[in-house]
Amino acid sequence: MKRLAILASGSGSNAEKIMEYFQNSPKAKVSLVASNKTDAFVLKRAEKFGVPTFTFSKKEMDAGILLEKLQSEKVDWVILAGFLLKIPDALIKAFPDRMVNIHPALLPKYGGKGMYGMHVHEAVKTSGDQETGITIHLVNEHYDEGKIIFQAATPVTAEDTPETIAEKVHALEHRYFPEVIDSLL
Ligand code: GRF
Repeated sequence: MKRLAILASGSGSNAEKIMEYFQNSPKAKVSLVASNKTDAFVLKRAEKFGVPTFTFSKKEMDAGILLEKLQSEKVDWVILAGFLLKIPDALIKAFPDRMVNIHPALLPKYGGKGMYGMHVHEAVKTSGDQETGITIHLVNEHYDEGKIIFQAATPVTAEDTPETIAEKVHALEHRYFPEVIDSLL
């Protein structure tokens, strides 16, 4: 049984889909939800599934507390689902090819520093691109530059707003992220 930890800073709708998907899986379980925000809604979602939670500050994470926790919980895979802090190198190195992130656009477009959440969907809208989508990738030392595992696209029309683009992207994330994780294990 593989043990998954989800790191998230916000609402955690993706985390919820992942917990739901693996709830009765013989292959893997979500054994921890960790957040840098003590009031993140993802913690409530974890409680609902009976998944233990762990919170920490950026300073504590940079000092190694999260890595220690993941190791003491014998975590096999780290899933980033809307986690907004830069992961310390030591943590990335401790999970070679076993850390995966979801990005709400078709990388390499709209990646890099500052490109998260609504900033991404606003940039897509401004560009006039006729499609956007999701990218699921392994994490390395550079933001959004790890090996791409999966992408899926959705059309962007003239009527779309950053908000409706966000909805379309979320729908793709919820549909694909859990099964792509499953296929990696
Ligand atoms: C998702 O769009 C994900 O791609 C991005 O952050 C968002 C998190 O949404 N990295 P939620 O907290 O899972 O609802």
